[in-house]
Amino acid sequence: MIHISRSVVGAAELEAMGRVMREDGYLGMGREVRAFEEEVREYLGGQDRSVICLNSGTAALHLAVQAVTRPGDEVLVQSLTFVASFQAISAAGAVPVACEVYPDTVTLNLEDAAQRITPRTRAVMPVHYAGNPGDLEAIYGFARRYGLRVIEDAAHAFGCTYQGRKIGSFGDLACFSFDGLKNITSGEGGGVVASDPRVIQSVQDARLLGVQRDTEKRYQGARSWEFDVQQQGYRYHMSNLLAALGRVQLRRFEGEFKPRRIELAQKYRVAFTGAGDLQLLQGDPGPIVPHIFPIRVLNGKRDGLRQFLLDRKIECGIHYKPNHLLSFYGGGQEALPVTERVYEELLTLPLHAGLRDDEIDYAIASVIEFLSQAADC
Ligand SMILES: Cc1ncc(COP(=O)(O)O)c(C=O)c1O
Repeated sequence: MIHISRSVVGAAELEAMGRVMREDGYLGMGREVRAFEEEVREYLGGQDRSVICLNSGTAALHLAVQAVTRPGDEVLVQSLTFVASFQAISAAGAVPVACEVYPDTVTLNLEDAAQRITPRTRAVMPVHYAGNPGDLEAIYGFARRYGLRVIEDAAHAFGCTYQGRKIGSFGDLACFSFDGLKNITSGEGGGVVASDPRVIQSVQDARLLGVQRDTEKRYQGARSWEFDVQQQGYRYHMSNLLAALGRVQLRRFEGEFKPRRIELAQKYRVAFTGAGDLQLLQGDPGPIVPHIFPIRVLNGKRDGLRQFLLDRKIECGIHYKPNHLLSFYGGGQEALPVTERVYEELLTLPLHAGLRDDEIDYAIASVIEFLSQAADC
């Protein structure tokens, strides 16, 4: 089977985790997490930024939403995203308001979002689908116009740039995921990047059960015995063990993972340019370091292509089932026609830093074979 995605880890990651096991005697959150946060901060750049690492990207989004909303507030978010974006909003007691996407990028449609503004709208969550941040300038302009906070769901966008600046190095709040399949992994993990001191303090405390300023103590190898709690918190902190893995992945990213992901996406794009019944998403590999490679298969041919590839042991998938169709989020009571059409067309092809040339060549040839057969029918 050619995998749609997988982790690329090896001896260096094993050695780093082994070192923590041999030397740490603790494994929880301490100096290794602090070092990972500092290294991610340096990598992203940007003045006055803090990185706060958590045990998942979902936890990062949840605490980011909690930091800038009150229960009952509304958050504008595209329906076509991983369920984690919606769950993070509802976990904080806020209400996810499902919006349309632009079909050519699968990013948040601002004209549609504007129609869904109410007096309770507090934030907007653009999702950087497949690594594409879309028109961030327009998103921040929109947020300013309506007085909203921006929580960028940058789970797909680690290492991506917008107008030459790295995602997370500017703007309001950005949330990354370091789960096993992302551009870099810490096994499971995530991070909030922000510059607002109130947000930073809120997320730091909330990741440790709301214990005030526990982060500083743990980074000095100490514990909090006398403390206060002023907000709902969770056990969401990252462990030293996972941070050690993440640190190695970060060192490998620029020279190894990033160029390979870009090269593979470029290869698909060149091979598919001009192919009938197939629409590439807009967005240039390079500024975009693609986490996944979705295409749009037109004229009702998506499921046929999907089965054709699966029969050839080429794993493919559908990112994502729109959230407004899920029972918990309305079960499709409201129609989002563009989103529903794009959902029927999307197909994600294999892309990960360990994908070999012969594997992608086979995947490309198979797609082209199917499309030319289908055109003859
Ligand atoms: C768009 C999006 N948001 C959030 C998440 C959540 O990240 P995690 O899996 O680290 O909880 C993911 C993970 O796949 C994602 O794709």
